Amino acid sequence: MEQIQAIINLAAGGGKPDQAALAALLGCEGEDEARLLAAADRVRKQSMGERVHLRGLIEFSNYCERNCLYCGLRRANGSLVRYRMEGEEILAVARAGAALGYRTVVLQSGEDSCYTAKMLAEVVCRLKSELDLAVTLSVGERSREEYKLWREAGADRYLLKHETADRELYQALHPDMTFDNRRRCLYWLRELGYQVGSGCMVGLPGQTLESLADDLLFMQELDVEMAGIGPFIPNPSTPLGHCQGGTAGLTLKMIAAARLLLPQAHLPATTALGTVDSQGRQKALQAGANVVMPNITPNRYRRMYEIYPNKICLDDNPAHCRNCIGGIIAGLGRTVATDCGHSPKGDFAAAGTLSEAGTQ
Ligand code: SAM
Ligand code: SF4
Ligand code: FES
Repeated sequence: MEQIQAIINLAAGGGKPDQAALAALLGCEGEDEARLLAAADRVRKQSMGERVHLRGLIEFSNYCERNCLYCGLRRANGSLVRYRMEGEEILAVARAGAALGYRTVVLQSGEDSCYTAKMLAEVVCRLKSELDLAVTLSVGERSREEYKLWREAGADRYLLKHETADRELYQALHPDMTFDNRRRCLYWLRELGYQVGSGCMVGLPGQTLESLADDLLFMQELDVEMAGIGPFIPNPSTPLGHCQGGTAGLTLKMIAAARLLLPQAHLPATTALGTVDSQGRQKALQAGANVVMPNITPNRYRRMYEIYPNKICLDDNPAHCRNCIGGIIAGLGRTVATDCGHSPKGDFAAAGTLSEAGTQ
């Protein structure tokens, strides 16, 4: 008990617990666990305040050229009906999102080279010039030149989860990808001036507490502006369909530990956590999280973006989800942020202030 409290104090005080200490922290239970979550909630309040940032998620294509063993969008999954949204349609969805009050849209898809860098750059450019939205891209691994083009077109942020910091596990889960290239991409994004989001899944087969500790240490080393942490959910249409999934409890401890190590990072209460536990997003918001990414994808596509089964909100429209989330946030005594919620860190905060000023 004293040992765990000492680790919490060290991390909350800006110190750097090592892998063994973080693994012990992630393994804590009972009163220790409650202390960890409460400490993360306090640090969140001090460094990020009471406002919760909303990001409208647009899942614009479920085609994927990759074959990640855990994901329903993998190219070998022949049971999925595939769709692609055109640029104009993405713009229309974002416009509807902006009308609901969203100030950030996240454009996410499988790895789909049908969308050339130029096509996506044009969409980004129009999202900025016509709708004045903050734009996060999450379209997987591309070349440095492509990332550069999108950054120049105005993309503010990029979400590319490192998925697992365990090299062997990474290689086993990603047949045609490499651990090194994933990391190279993240460092390019950093160099290009994006607000960088990484993150991992919790409860992958073969994953240990030490490897989860390494996930935290990697995100601390990269000094990420965002960290998406969610449970692995087995999908029966994938080779990992028979495996056990990650638990809400361990995921919450990971989010809490991430908050202690990364006080200024945006941490979403993920949809995957809301899927394994109906109160999962509420619990995350009280254990360090300060962001929610409601789905604003039109209903006719939602069901087809089936990364994992039983995803929440499949029959709910964007306006309904916006109200639902607003209610959840108010119910926790928090408020929905009305600015676009750039990272509070140095340069990004300054850039955010400029663009906010430009809209007044
Ligand atoms: N293709 C892009 C990529 O992989 O970065 C973006 C889309 S991908 C569907 C978004 C995220 O879904 C991945 O980063 C992964 O962590 C998550 N994901 C995929 N399959 C999952 C599963 N079975 N359970 C939980 N999360 C999953
Ligand atoms: Fe494709 Fe991303 Fe799913 Fe991997 S996680 S199969 S890259 S959509
Ligand atoms: Fe979609 Fe609650 S967020 S129904």
